[in-house]
Amino acid sequence: MEARHFLKVTDLAKAEVETVLIAAASWKKQPLGSVLQGKTVALVFGKPSTRTRVSFSVGVYQLGGMPLALSEQELQMRRSESIEDTARVLSRYVDAIVIRTFAQRDVEDLAAHATVPVINALTDDDHPCQALTDVFTFRERFPDASGRKIVYLGDGNNVAASLAEACALTGIDICLSVPEGYDLPPGKMTEIQTLANANGTGFQVERDPTAAVAGASALYTDVWISMGQESDSAKVEALRPYQLNDDLLRRARPEAIALHCLPAHRGDEITDEVMDGPRSAVFDQAENRLHVQKALMSFLLEGDRR
Ligand code: CP
Ligand code: NVA
Repeated sequence: MEARHFLKVTDLAKAEVETVLIAAASWKKQPLGSVLQGKTVALVFGKPSTRTRVSFSVGVYQLGGMPLALSEQELQMRRSESIEDTARVLSRYVDAIVIRTFAQRDVEDLAAHATVPVINALTDDDHPCQALTDVFTFRERFPDASGRKIVYLGDGNNVAASLAEACALTGIDICLSVPEGYDLPPGKMTEIQTLANANGTGFQVERDPTAAVAGASALYTDVWISMGQESDSAKVEALRPYQLNDDLLRRARPEAIALHCLPAHRGDEITDEVMDGPRSAVFDQAENRLHVQKALMSFLLEGDRR
C-alpha cells in the first residue's frame, strides 16, 4: 500500500479532514492509545521549534510509539547525502517521518522517495498541521463555525497560506488583511480561490484592517519576520497597522476570539492585552496541536482507527 503523506492541507480530502478533526476531539478526551505500539516516528527539524517538536514527541509517546528527534544539522543530509537517499534509508528504520525545513520542494522530494508517511511540520510555504489545529480550535469555540469569518492580519506567509486553505476547505470564511507587497504568492491565491469556490466558502483580501475585522469571529496573526527571513525594517513599518490589539478586537464581533500560532513577538504583531486577555484562545490553540496531530498520525498510519 502507498504511504499517505501530509505535505499541504489539500493532501486530505474534505471528508478526511472531518474524520481527523472528529478523532482529535476524541483524543482530547481520552489521551492514551496504542495505535503506534512498536512504531518509531522520526522528527527531523532544520528550524527551531517548541510546540511542534514537543507536541509530536508527546503525541507519539501517548499513542504507544517512540519519537526519534533528529536535528537536520546532525544528519548526513546536511553534509550532502541526498534527500532521496535519506528518505530511502529512514524508511527502512522508522514508520513515519515528520519534517520541518525550509523548501517545500525538499519535503516533496523526501515524500516522493519515502515508503512511510511524511508529515510537513512547517516549510517556508506551508504549515498544514497548524492549520488543521486552527480549524479545530475555531470550531471548539464556535460549533456553528460554518459561514463565520476568520481574519488573518499581517504577513502573507506559510501560516496564512495553510490557514486560508484549511478554512476554504472546511466552510469557514477567510479574509486576508495583508499590506500590499506582502501577499501570498499568486499561485497560492489562485489555489485558495478555487478551493473556496468549490466549497462555497468566502475568500477575500482587505488591505484596510479596520474594515477587514468587521463581522469577524476570530482575528488571527503571526510573526512579521518568519524563521529564515532577514529582519526588514520596511516590512515591519508596513505591518504595524495590522497589529492585533484591543482596538481592532473591539471592532470584531462581540464574541470574537484572538488566535496566534505562536511564538509571538509581543508588542509587534500582537499586544500583551490581547494575548493575556479574556478573548485569547492562543494557549488552547497551542494545546490542540497535540490532539490534532495524534489524530493525523493515527489516520495516516492506521487509517480511520482511534
Ligand atoms: N506554532 C508552531 O509551529 O510553533 P513552534 O515553531 O514552536 O513549533
Ligand atoms: N511564520 C512563522 C511560523 C512559526 C510557527 C515562521 O515560519 O517562522
